[in-house]
Amino acid sequence: MAVDHTAWANEVRRLAKERDALIIAHNYQVPQIQDIADHVGDSLYLSRIAATAPHSEIVFCGVHFMAETAKILSPDKRVLLPDAEAGCSLADTITADQLREWKAEHPGAAVVAYVNTSAAVKAETDICCTSSNAADVIRTIPADQDILFLPDRHLGEHVRRMTGRDNIHLWQGQCHVHEGITPTKLLGALADNPDADVLVHPECACANTALSLVGSGQIASERVRITSTGGMTTIAGGRPGTRTVLVATETGMLHQLRKLSPTTRWEPVDDDAICPYMKMTDADALLHSLRTGTVEIEVDPVIADRARASVEKMIAIGSPSRGGE
Ligand code: 13P
Ligand code: SF4
Repeated sequence: MAVDHTAWANEVRRLAKERDALIIAHNYQVPQIQDIADHVGDSLYLSRIAATAPHSEIVFCGVHFMAETAKILSPDKRVLLPDAEAGCSLADTITADQLREWKAEHPGAAVVAYVNTSAAVKAETDICCTSSNAADVIRTIPADQDILFLPDRHLGEHVRRMTGRDNIHLWQGQCHVHEGITPTKLLGALADNPDADVLVHPECACANTALSLVGSGQIASERVRITSTGGMTTIAGGRPGTRTVLVATETGMLHQLRKLSPTTRWEPVDDDAICPYMKMTDADALLHSLRTGTVEIEVDPVIADRARASVEKMIAIGSPSRGGE
């Protein structure tokens, strides 16, 4: 970045005011972006903020499906994504055509889609969820109705465990970042930090292992939580302690956790868990976006109209706070 930090921050704030823009950032964004944003949080929290903000423009420092979701909820607002290439490997694991074929194989099943999906997939969905309200969303569906849950298989296994339902069919998608946070890496981090508490995002490949350690009595249950990024910030906000906590998710998360509880030792389970898409929005990209009004995200109005009900149901379910379950 050519300009110094204060000049950059002043210019970002000046342009945001001039454009009547609200800057919102996901917990995985780089620290500089998190610190300049009006709001930082998980997918559910940011969807709700985007839907209710009085501003005429939302600058979404996140990835494409998040900006699309904001546009679906607020078709009259301008929604900017600083880098149009900021996609999501998980969202890419299912297309609308594939979902239509899957639905045809299971007539009568309810379709629950994680928010990490394209607008076209959301248009084929009955109700969306995020990692912070997935189990609550499942509980709104009659117990005897089959459910098609997509696209993340690890989150799907988690909601199966949480709800005790055996009629949830899982799409076998995964996020390449969380898939890399393996059981071996979790066991290695625990071997190095045997007294640490553990926070695990439900998209992680090691979520099952964390729960098995609890089930076999190797770790006390209160030391392990499987939770969304918002749930992690809620836990951090209520913990002034000095313990070590191992965090299994994208490493951008550590910035918020360290700000919320500086006396706790927050350590990543996997240093390499870096989402390349989330890191595309750097200081220059945000400034460029505000200067040029790019990249404006559009959603085909027919698709948006079909997707809106499932997204609105999602934001109505679960805790309205910044954190999740
Ligand atoms: P949450 O912020 O909902 O926990 O989601 C994590 C994620 O992977 C977003 O892409
Ligand atoms: Fe998608 Fe994974 Fe990146 Fe989240 S961390 S945006 S699920 S690729």
